[in-house]
Amino acid sequence: MRKNIVAGNWKMNTNVQEGMELAKAVNEAVSKGINKPETGVIIAPPFTHLANISEQVDHNKVLLAAQNCSTQESGAYTGEVSVKMLKSIGVDAVILGHSERRTIFGEKNNDLWLKLQLVLNNNMKAIYCIGESEDERKSEIHFDVITKQVEEVLLKLDEKELKNVIVAYEPVWAIGTGLTASAEQAQEMHKHIRDLFAKKYGEKVADDVTILYGGSCKPSNAQELFSQPDVDGGLIGGASLKADDFMKIVNTF
Ligand code: PGA
Repeated sequence: MRKNIVAGNWKMNTNVQEGMELAKAVNEAVSKGINKPETGVIIAPPFTHLANISEQVDHNKVLLAAQNCSTQESGAYTGEVSVKMLKSIGVDAVILGHSERRTIFGEKNNDLWLKLQLVLNNNMKAIYCIGESEDERKSEIHFDVITKQVEEVLLKLDEKELKNVIVAYEPVWAIGTGLTASAEQAQEMHKHIRDLFAKKYGEKVADDVTILYGGSCKPSNAQELFSQPDVDGGLIGGASLKADDFMKIVNTF
């Protein structure tokens, strides 16, 4: 059976001290016990925080994710951070293809394919984000957009590789805007994504893929979203910066 997961994407927020306090609070709360102990908890602090926080958290209970990585293994790529560097400090997962990376930094599906292969070849997990823009939804091409994002990258993986991928459906119009997809909108898209996997890999494999919802998810709406059959948790931005709110979302399960 697939896992329920709640992941916190801190984006470019907190200094190292604040980040360490936030990670400590989450780690303590998860260690003391959560409603459903099998729920996976992931935090994704900025690069500068990762080495310290990696020593601080119990990786059996709280997985540590980076928010990005380089398309390259190593070499003359000023300013980049490689997957092996992340691996060497105990990072467990990498968020790939967040809409802010796609729209602000111009990341394309072929860049994401390179990153995804590096992450998976290093035995790490990928949280792979997909989502349509407001215009794409208004033009009613959102299912096609998502199909293309899935086909061009995720469907190129083999079944074994797919096991280490967590998918995050994040409608761009809902990220940081306070607008949330309705539970029905989230469910119909999550079902569409799972059907794409089922067509390629069969029902059983598709059933095991964790698909998270992201976009203004908070304690007040998590329950409704997570109760949908194909919504397996959330990728949380703003509400992951307060340990209490984040833990309320974790304990929605
Ligand atoms: P938000 O961000 O919860 O602040 O909307 C979600 C995300 O970008 O992952």
